[in-house]
Amino acid sequence: MVASRRGSGSITLPTGQTMTIHTRTHEEEDLPHATKKTMADHLRKYESLFTLTPQRMRMIVEAFKDSLELGLQKPKQVVPMIPTFVFGWPTGKESGDFLALDLGGTNLRVCLVTLQGEGKFEMTQTKYRLTEEQKQDEGQKLFDFCAECLKTFVDTNFTDEDGTSLLKPGELLPLGFTFSYPCYQSRIDHGELIRWTKGFGAKNTEGRDVAEMFRQSIEKYKIPVVMTAIINDTTGTLIASHYVNPKTKIAVIFGTGCNAAYMEDVKNIDKIKVLKINEQDQMAINCEWGAFDSFEHEHLPRTKYDIIVDETSNKPGEQAFEKLISGRYLGEILRLVICELIDEGVLFLGQETYKLETPYVFETAFLSLMESDPTDELLMIIGIFTHFFAVETTLAERQFFRALAMLIGRRAARLSACGIAAIVGKMDYLDEGCLVGADGSLYNKYPGFADRVHEGLIDIFGEKGRNIKTVHAEDGSGVGSAIIAAMTKVRRDAGLYPHV
Ligand code: BGC
Repeated sequence: MVASRRGSGSITLPTGQTMTIHTRTHEEEDLPHATKKTMADHLRKYESLFTLTPQRMRMIVEAFKDSLELGLQKPKQVVPMIPTFVFGWPTGKESGDFLALDLGGTNLRVCLVTLQGEGKFEMTQTKYRLTEEQKQDEGQKLFDFCAECLKTFVDTNFTDEDGTSLLKPGELLPLGFTFSYPCYQSRIDHGELIRWTKGFGAKNTEGRDVAEMFRQSIEKYKIPVVMTAIINDTTGTLIASHYVNPKTKIAVIFGTGCNAAYMEDVKNIDKIKVLKINEQDQMAINCEWGAFDSFEHEHLPRTKYDIIVDETSNKPGEQAFEKLISGRYLGEILRLVICELIDEGVLFLGQETYKLETPYVFETAFLSLMESDPTDELLMIIGIFTHFFAVETTLAERQFFRALAMLIGRRAARLSACGIAAIVGKMDYLDEGCLVGADGSLYNKYPGFADRVHEGLIDIFGEKGRNIKTVHAEDGSGVGSAIIAAMTKVRRDAGLYPHV
């Protein structure tokens, strides 16, 4: 007699799909191909591939620091260290109504932020999901879509019940545009797209001023706004987190992509010396650290699965660090390991596995769910494999999948710690300690991610690593963008933006 168990429940995936789990499980004897022993042997191999020792982490940190320095010294380096023209910290007194448009990796968001001073704010927002087609189509069409959404939002929020505009004739609402892709900036309201990341590939956009492209779309739809600043999500996060907690010195995003920003002394940014900006000033730097070790691949330990992810991506060679860490790629790395074991005849013998063969079908959200499955039988994992991929799993396999998810998730968190440690080391923040405002789906939703980052920091720095704490950040792309728009207005009104 085969023992069987039942489990039921439902989960909602980031894609919006709901998965109902109502599963019957059989004891392993039914599926003889995956015993505890063979799975444990395989796991050992992956453990050695995906584990980062403290020593290796420290080597990565050293190389990382060099890349950060180089990016500050010379233009167009692998880690571009982009001067953002966001000068210094907010005072906390910034106030007023500001619009923010956030073009992220997955969604488009329009926000109305009311800054109330004293680190307080209120926000109204609307979110739109971007389609794969929009991400790959003509760039100008993408900005037209942004403008259309912005117009609907402004019409809805700035008209009274009779449809009469609440704006004074000629009044323009200040808008911060959060555009979270690497852009060279020579002014705060200008940004030349270096390259698309996170799987975007909209045509005729790389190398162009995206602020100008968006301005054209704003004009086309006759929207009463003036774009005052183009902002990276990390810069917004840095400023928003500091607005509510001035101990924040660094901001990081671990989401579909990954990146960091921090505040630098202008006198240390050699590559903009020609601009003759006051040497006493400080400016936020958008590191674009996802590009660390791109092209040369000298420092990061890449497995063959990472190499496949890279080579089959729309941007081979680029974003080397990001491809080991960010939410866009972790599920794919795990899928490639599973496919290898299917090919070797270890997993799912005799079952149809074609559903697992499509790139990127294995979402990073599945890794989170697998790691957080609270049941002994791992019912959640049964649900994922039966519901999405129509394959039956043994308990030994499920334990293996969970352990594999842990290895991949843990490596991502420890590499993230290396990036943070590089900035902390470079800026000498270790003794005094600091907060790191952190945001993004991986940081917010992946179980244990933050703890693993903290463990990593202790492995790198010893006990002093405890001085560096990540904290859930304020909404950088909305609130941060609004604060930066407010700071920019103050500088402009004071005549401080003449040369930039
Ligand atoms: C982009 C960055 C962004 C990060 C997080 C990366 O792919 O290049 O600009 O900050 O994703 O969204």
